[in-house]
Amino acid sequence: MRIAIITGASSGMGREFARQLTAAEKFDELWVIARRAHRLEKLKKELSLPVRVLALDLTKETEKYAALLAAEQPEVSILINSSGFGKFGRYNQIPLQDCMDMIDLNCKALVAVTQLTLPYMTAGSRILQVDSLSAFQPVPYLNVYGATKAFVLSYSQALAAELRDRKIQVMAFCPGWVKTEFFDHAEETSGDAVVYYNKWFTAEEAVRCGLKDLKKRKLVSVPSLTNKLQVFGVKHLPTRWVMNIWLKQQKKR
Ligand SMILES: NC(=O)c1ccc[n+]([C@@H]2O[C@H](COP(=O)([O-])OP(=O)(O)OC[C@H]3O[C@@H](n4cnc5c(N)ncnc54)[C@H](OP(=O)(O)O)[C@@H]3O)[C@@H](O)[C@H]2O)c1
Repeated sequence: MRIAIITGASSGMGREFARQLTAAEKFDELWVIARRAHRLEKLKKELSLPVRVLALDLTKETEKYAALLAAEQPEVSILINSSGFGKFGRYNQIPLQDCMDMIDLNCKALVAVTQLTLPYMTAGSRILQVDSLSAFQPVPYLNVYGATKAFVLSYSQALAAELRDRKIQVMAFCPGWVKTEFFDHAEETSGDAVVYYNKWFTAEEAVRCGLKDLKKRKLVSVPSLTNKLQVFGVKHLPTRWVMNIWLKQQKKR
């Protein structure tokens, strides 16, 4: 059984990956993971291939995912890790528990799902880690969120090098601002800390670019020329300047 697995498929980019990926490629089954079962069931009705709904909180229930893999012994053609969340705001506005939860989901759960899935992958299999443009620089007022995404970038690139011999591809997908439910949560704690967003993408646009770059076998995918230029600048300018530019945009300097 050749399957695709997508976490965070109940909304935003994960759901869009499910739509675009299954329109472009054939799989025996798609496994979709998130906490909201009703959303996943709705997606299942929309798609034309067999879909297995796994309503799991990935910060607490990865052992159930491991048990299912062990029972089914699937061949995993592609894993897309899109579960994640962010909280924006000043260091003393974001509750400590939210900071811990971001690390648990964006870092620990992503590593757990990746490591648990790898034994079921063979030559030609692919892993797409939904990362972020904030992975490339320290981001005041997104300090923990940005750090979780820097972790994903480092982990994914190193893992890609290790998996080269097994011919398994790993790509870190690093979009800028994408209009999704992400901001319903991110802005709960933000107050007036983050007020400026330079350019918005739709989930459709971002995902199209991610899948295109995956086909091109890129190690890191950054949608749009503006964001590529930003990454270039960030890599070459002193970190203090980069943070000051961001703070100026947020009218904090
Ligand atoms: N939107 C942006 O501007 C942007 C930019 C760069 C990167 N990203 C990254 O893109 C990824 C997808 O975000 P999005 O923009 O598509 O936001 P979204 O619409 O809020 O999607 C987040 C997904 O994560 C799932 N999720 C949250 N907590 C979970 C948990 N404990 N266990 C399992 N699944 C969980 C949610 O499903 P349930 O609530 O049903 O569990 C949802 O399906 C995230 O990693 C985010 O950091 C977003």
